[in-house]
Amino acid sequence: STLPTSKQFAQKDGFRFFMEKEIYEQSDVVGDCMLGRLNDEEILFDEIDKSLIEGINEIKICACGTSYHSGLTASYLFERLSKVKCNVEIASEFRYKDPLLTKDTLFIVISQSGETADTLEALKMAKAAGLKSLVVCNVDNSSMTRTADATILTRAGIEKGVASTKAFTTQTVVLWMLALYFGKAKNVLQSDKLQNELKALREVPKSLIIDDKIHEKTKRLSKRYLHGHGFFFIGRDVFFPLALEGALKLKEISYLHAEGYPAGEMKHGPIALADPELFTIALMPENLLYDKIKSNVEELSARDSTICSISPLKFDLSDDFIKTKKTDHYMLEFFEMLIALQLLSMEISVRLGNDVDMPRNLAKSVTVE
Ligand code: G6P
Repeated sequence: STLPTSKQFAQKDGFRFFMEKEIYEQSDVVGDCMLGRLNDEEILFDEIDKSLIEGINEIKICACGTSYHSGLTASYLFERLSKVKCNVEIASEFRYKDPLLTKDTLFIVISQSGETADTLEALKMAKAAGLKSLVVCNVDNSSMTRTADATILTRAGIEKGVASTKAFTTQTVVLWMLALYFGKAKNVLQSDKLQNELKALREVPKSLIIDDKIHEKTKRLSKRYLHGHGFFFIGRDVFFPLALEGALKLKEISYLHAEGYPAGEMKHGPIALADPELFTIALMPENLLYDKIKSNVEELSARDSTICSISPLKFDLSDDFIKTKKTDHYMLEFFEMLIALQLLSMEISVRLGNDVDMPRNLAKSVTVE
C-alpha cells in the first residue's frame, strides 16, 4: 500500500484511521454536544419551541443502521424518564407498512447525514399525516433538517469512517437530554432524580476518555477472536441496543458473523449454537440488572461458549474480561462499554487486514432506496 501524504496523515492527527481518530474524539465532541444545553437544574434546548411537545402523548422514532440503535436506546430512556410511550422502527419497514399515525405523536428521526433515503421518506410521510416532527442530526442544512419542524444538531463534527462512532455517541446523549427535557416539562421527574441524571450527564465526557489499558486489552484479545462460528453480543435494557451496535460494528469492518441479542432471549433458540467456537461478548453493567445478565451468561458458559465479559466487575466464569471503570450510573457504564466495543471491532478488523475506514460493500450515506 502507498504511504499517506503528509496532509492525509495530518488529517488523522497521527491516528492510523479516521475511525480511530473519531473514537478518540468522542470525549471532546460530547462536550460540544452538551454545551449550553444543561445548567444546574435543567436541560435547555433553544431549538425546541414549547408548542412542539404540547399535547404529545407518544413518541415514534424512525432511523436506519447505527442511528436506529441510538433510537432504540432512547426508547428505554423516554419511557423511564419522561413517562411517554415510545416505539422505534427501522425506516425501510415503516415506509411500506401503512403505519397508523395519530396527531398526539411526536415523530423523531435520527440521522448522522440527514440524507438517508428511507429515513427522509418516513419523515415526509409523518409530516403529510400532520404529525409534529423533530430530527436529531449531525449535518446542518441537510434534507432532513430542511424538512422537520425542529432540529437538534449533534455537533459531532465531520465523521469520515463509514462505521459510525461519534455520531452514535452524540445522538444518544442528545436523546438522553431530550428524555430529561420531556420529563421535566411533563412534571414527571422528581427533582432529586433529575439532579442525579444531570450529574451523570456531566460525567459523560470523562467516561469517554480512553484508558490505554482498555485499548491494549482489545488489541490483545483481537488475536483470539478471528476464527470461530461467530459472535453473540448480549445485554439487557439499554445494553441490548448497545449489544446490537457492538455486533453491527464488528460485522461492518471485520466481516465476521455477529448478532446482538437481548440476554434473556438466548434460551429461546440462539443458545443452541453455543460451543467453544461461539464467542459471547457479555455486557454486564453493575448498575442495571446485574444478577439477571449474570444468570444468562452462566447458562452460556455451562454450554461451553467462550465468554468475554465487559464489566466493572470480574466474573469468574468468563474466559476473557475487559474491565470498565466503576461508576454510579448505568448510562456512564453504557459509554464506557461502547468504547470497548468500538476498539475491539477496530482491532479485529486491523488484524484481518481490512480497510477500517472504507469497508467493502458499504457506503457512508445511503441516499437511494
Ligand atoms: C449507512 C452507514 C451507517 C449509518 C446508516 C444510517 O448504512 O454506513 O453507518 O448508520 O447509513 O445513516 P444516517 O446518516 O441516516 O445516520
